[in-house]
Amino acid sequence: MLSSFEFDQRGDILIVDDVPENLQLLFEILSDEGHEVRRVLNGSQALKVIEIDPPDLILLDIKMPAMDGYEVCKRLKSDPKTASIPIIFLSALNEILDKVKAFSVGGSDYINKPFDVYEVLMRVNNQLKLLRTNQAIENQNSELRTLNKDLESFNYMVSHDLRRPLTRLLGCSELLCDSQLSEAELQEIIEIIVGAGREMNQIITDLMHLAMIRKEKLNLESVNLSEMVAGLFQSLQRKEPDRAVEIFVEADLEVIGDRQLLKLALENLVDNAWKYTCKTSAPRIEFIQADDDSYCLRDNGAGFKFRCQEDVFAPFQRFHTEKEFKGTGIGLAIVHRIIESHQGAIWCEAAVNEGAAFHFTLGV
Ligand SMILES: Nc1ncnc2c1ncn2[C@@H]1O[C@H](COP(=O)(O)OP(=O)(O)OP(=O)(O)O)[C@@H](O)[C@H]1O
Ligand SMILES: [Mg+2]
Repeated sequence: MLSSFEFDQRGDILIVDDVPENLQLLFEILSDEGHEVRRVLNGSQALKVIEIDPPDLILLDIKMPAMDGYEVCKRLKSDPKTASIPIIFLSALNEILDKVKAFSVGGSDYINKPFDVYEVLMRVNNQLKLLRTNQAIENQNSELRTLNKDLESFNYMVSHDLRRPLTRLLGCSELLCDSQLSEAELQEIIEIIVGAGREMNQIITDLMHLAMIRKEKLNLESVNLSEMVAGLFQSLQRKEPDRAVEIFVEADLEVIGDRQLLKLALENLVDNAWKYTCKTSAPRIEFIQADDDSYCLRDNGAGFKFRCQEDVFAPFQRFHTEKEFKGTGIGLAIVHRIIESHQGAIWCEAAVNEGAAFHFTLGV
């Protein structure tokens, strides 16, 4: 929430002035306040520096040889990469400050020379505060956009995927009214109804998991991922004792994280590896530490045609038909959200019939 947002008032400020004494004075005033301050003596240097490393705020002298402040400002405002950097113009008392022009080329404020220390600090802080507020709003907007996208997918899901088992369930229920059914037919219909009910239940459970993760606070502790992954494979093997999958789990991979959430994430990755290798001859799955801080679950199963990372982790995105492999397409969205809530990253590599590898880091 914005009201409880702690603004970090310190900024990265670039001062552009052709008079070294002015640069030095402003440098001292602003550095003393804890700002990071950079200085350049003319417009073209300023444009170069800004392109390489854009500052939070620019203090820009108007009257400079070669390229004046208005021109520098115009160029910055016409480039989308630099257009949002606030600019405070600096103008000497003996110059007639064209305030209208200063604002019309995109300036945010102006300061008259000779500088009044408090005025400089106040105007700089105002701009930084505005900038931080805008950034906070933009972050919230982007979160809202994500939520909105999820909500759209959710609507689609409810109307499309949930309707599929529901239609089956309704159709079979109607058949039940027919008193001519044999014992065997009755049994078959009941099995379909139970199956449809289970499928709907699974979809709803998955959606609830997905909705839960955003709100949950992490309960951090040391977690042995190796034991967790090995345990998950053991229980899958118990459920399907006939499947022969070569499993390799690197020992002693310990991380800090929320045990319950990490289990939910790994469960989804492990379930996928297990599920998508079920039609592969000589299936093999490995869980290893790939480098200093990333872990990888790799299988040699069905794989899929990889387009982009965003696609893979979006809710309800599936790369196989329901006939090929059963699923609701929520698993990886849950994993993604859990890894994100641990300030980590997740990405994948995959190719059709060559398998898939999911890499992740945990930042907490
Ligand atoms: N290890 C894997 N190998 C091949 N394809 C995979 C693998 N993991 C995920 N996928 C592809 O990514 C899609 C999304 O995975 P996700 O786990 O979100 O959904 P799902 O497995 O279909 O359903 P569920 O919600 O039940 O997990 C899958 O439908 C599948 O096409
Ligand atoms: Mg899955």
